[in-house]
Amino acid sequence: MLLLGARVVAQVPDTPIIRYQDTAHPVYGAAGMVASQNLYASKAGADVLAAGGNAVDAAIAVSFSLAVTLPRAGNLGGGGFMLIHDSATGENTSIDYREMAPVGATRDMYLDKEGNVDRNRAMFSHLASGVPGTVAGLYQAHQQFGRLPWKRLLEAAIAQARYGVPVSFDLAEMLKSRQLRMCRNAATCGYFYKDGGEPYAAGELLVQSDLADTLERIANEGPDGFYKGKTAELIVDEMKRGGGLVDAESLVAYRAVDRKPVSGTYRGYEVVTMSPPSSGGVHVLQMLNTLEHFPVAEFGAGSADSIHLLAEVARLAYADRSEYLGDPDYYDVPVEWLISKEYGKELAATIDMRKARESTDVAPGVAPQPESPDTTHFSVIDADGSIVATTTTLNFSFGSAISVAGAGFLLNNEMDDFVSKPGVPNAYGLLGGEANAIAAGKRPLSSMTPTIVLADGQPWFATGSPGGSRIITSVLQMLVNVIDHGMNLAEAVNAPRMHHQWLPDILQLESGFSPDTVKILRERGHAVQESRSSMGSVQAVGFRDGVFRGASDPRRPNAASVAPAAATQ
Ligand code: GLY
Repeated sequence: MLLLGARVVAQVPDTPIIRYQDTAHPVYGAAGMVASQNLYASKAGADVLAAGGNAVDAAIAVSFSLAVTLPRAGNLGGGGFMLIHDSATGENTSIDYREMAPVGATRDMYLDKEGNVDRNRAMFSHLASGVPGTVAGLYQAHQQFGRLPWKRLLEAAIAQARYGVPVSFDLAEMLKSRQLRMCRNAATCGYFYKDGGEPYAAGELLVQSDLADTLERIANEGPDGFYKGKTAELIVDEMKRGGGLVDAESLVAYRAVDRKPVSGTYRGYEVVTMSPPSSGGVHVLQMLNTLEHFPVAEFGAGSADSIHLLAEVARLAYADRSEYLGDPDYYDVPVEWLISKEYGKELAATIDMRKARESTDVAPGVAPQPESPDTTHFSVIDADGSIVATTTTLNFSFGSAISVAGAGFLLNNEMDDFVSKPGVPNAYGLLGGEANAIAAGKRPLSSMTPTIVLADGQPWFATGSPGGSRIITSVLQMLVNVIDHGMNLAEAVNAPRMHHQWLPDILQLESGFSPDTVKILRERGHAVQESRSSMGSVQAVGFRDGVFRGASDPRRPNAASVAPAAATQ
């Protein structure tokens, strides 16, 4: 073991290229950088960069590797958003491969006879799954930007699944804590537990042969290896066994979509981020436009003024989220208004720095974060300065906990990100209405917020986070920490986080804020609650002063920023 700063990290003998991040400094490199939630996935991406691949190639390799090494969030059975800045053209683009509601989905599909939301059906049944988008999205990214052959990008993931990867501490802990739910499904239990349901210990090899076969079909046939043929048959059979809706017609109909990212400026820097069906990008820009009217740098990082202001802007943004955000193909989201400088100014004028506002219509007794929020983010920058920010998810850790028997992968429970019934919060305590009602072919509203910041047209850093509803505030604080408070990527990632989402009207704080600050916040009227879990897991890469940088959040174990081999020898 290697002890650096406050972190203990495993020494991996076959990876001399890895440099470890301490608490104050990012990892440095000379020819690109990959930051992800798993060391072996970051290494797969760095190897692709070293082999001449570009940032999109590396991102595809990381994503497939995470489907093997981080089964709680990396996925074939889920979806995500990939945000790309192409250095050759200076263009920004994004690929939306969010899950789609299956053809047979209906608005009231999760209501029981009494009209109440059946939470189990919405979260842990075959009905909880939308049509997976990951394979289609990664293939689309490759068609548009890829440099290395598609098959090359799946090599690491196939080898990791076929011959096994050491189970990370993070995975071992998660498998232990989720055993009951996971072993309700025989296929899931068989794939992720030893005979008899015993969890793997950290360091033991997890071999995933069915997953390796599925990855090989995708390597050989592209999306047809997933949406048609054997894999599709296995998915449809699984759905028939469990009464789910993802049928052959829904699979063939799946489309990843190119979306124009939303963008704006913050204190002179260009912020490029994800458009709907992400709510994150719109609200990060809205909150930055509001913050711009306050001397945030003067307030100081972690001060009561800073936290109070962040809570007030978040309260306003999340209230708008519940009303206006949904799939833009089904609902006319007023994006331009929400991200306009005028609206930011209007909102700023309503904020009282001495007193917390009350969130109207507080829903009593809504527990925040009943479920560990999960999703994963990774960022890549290549030697040419192309930069990719990708957030991908099954929704909860391990999604619905149901695997496609014979195909080796878990299914998402993303349908819970729709509004099952107006006024009834989803698993993240988020409310919504018509804009996010269920309809066949529609994409559920997401909080995933992959974001790129440019300085003078050149990429500065890319960032993003898991964390359900806390994704948006985690990304916002990353931007404020770097831009306003002048922190480097590692300091910005490590700084304690707050969260407010309008309803429930609670200001959640991680540990690390001073008792004096907490006291002042209470005096201003905030219902402060110490968060039961840490917030987010930011993976950031960047380029500054001629050096590539990477920072992986210390909040969850086994994340790593890795530079390509040539860069650090
Ligand atoms: N499932 C989490 C999100 O997309 O926001």
